[in-house]
Amino acid sequence: MQAVTVVPGMAGSAVLDDVPEPAADAGPVLVEALAVGVCGTDAEIANGGYGWAPPGQERLILGHESLGRVLDPGPTGLAIGEHVVGIVRHPDPMPCPSCAVGEWDMCSNGLYTERGIKQAHGFMAERWRVEPEYLVRVDERLGTLGVLLEPATVVTKAWQHILSIGQRTFWDPQVVLIVGAGPIGLLAALIGVQLGREVHVLDRVTTGPKPGLVEQLGASYHVGTVAELGLQPDIVIECTGVVPLIVEAADAVAAGGIVCLTGIGSPDTTTAATAALLAKDAVLKNLVIFGSVNANRRHYFRAARVLARADRAWLEQLVTRRVRPADVEQALAGRPDDIKVVMEFAQP
Ligand code: BGC
Repeated sequence: MQAVTVVPGMAGSAVLDDVPEPAADAGPVLVEALAVGVCGTDAEIANGGYGWAPPGQERLILGHESLGRVLDPGPTGLAIGEHVVGIVRHPDPMPCPSCAVGEWDMCSNGLYTERGIKQAHGFMAERWRVEPEYLVRVDERLGTLGVLLEPATVVTKAWQHILSIGQRTFWDPQVVLIVGAGPIGLLAALIGVQLGREVHVLDRVTTGPKPGLVEQLGASYHVGTVAELGLQPDIVIECTGVVPLIVEAADAVAAGGIVCLTGIGSPDTTTAATAALLAKDAVLKNLVIFGSVNANRRHYFRAARVLARADRAWLEQLVTRRVRPADVEQALAGRPDDIKVVMEFAQP
């Protein structure tokens, strides 16, 4: 069968390859790929900056934002043809206490694996296998938009952590600032609106689909710096990883506020002075500045609700480019107006 593979650590090695059918030990459920979302992590792996092949192998099948159709349900109660998404992270083999209770997104010893990222093949393949515990059903009415489930889980987890951290004290958060209007930022804004908050989104661009998408949500779109906004948000969800924006976010957030970091930027602007500024804001304003990555099964179920409640036409606009697996190079090279690029396999 065909699959998009890379040699982790080797820039420019992503190709559409002939690979063996998925190994039976990957799980009893056989799935036919419908679509796979492409994200910044995939580009980073393709640029040689991240990623690990399965032990003993040279190449990694890329792709972690999956959507497929059950071909063979094995011993599960699934029906042939049902739409499913594979969970990205699998617990470490020890397992650590977090993995042991199903919170592998919080793995404490770093020995977890991630499909398409770390030591386990991903989903950019015509067919993939999965264990029933790492598979979630999605509403077929979403069609290929089911591919948005994985990025939605990442922000669902971030939101859940924000709300539970908020329980530390009296807190009545109203104003939310999302920094970055990529897929993660827009899905974070969607959840903020669903939670009834006043949502602001900051990005660099004034053209393309982003301003309209934010306005259609009933949120406010801004360009410029965080400082120029003149807002005092209770919650900031930072989705760019750009260090000066993180510092500005900590400076602007209201006392007692929460800054959630979901992006990783380049380290070139990090200095001791930056850390000191962050520490000053965090201490003097009782802030919580925390990071969030990945998601567990609970977040997949909640994220499915988020997508089900969202306006289908709005979700549709998040997919700005659909590509064939053979066009992997174009898929991985971002374009200025891209929000979510989706690689299509079989037709739904
Ligand atoms: C994925 C997460 C993963 C993270 C780090 C992200 O792109 O969505 O599931 O944990 O990369 O590898």
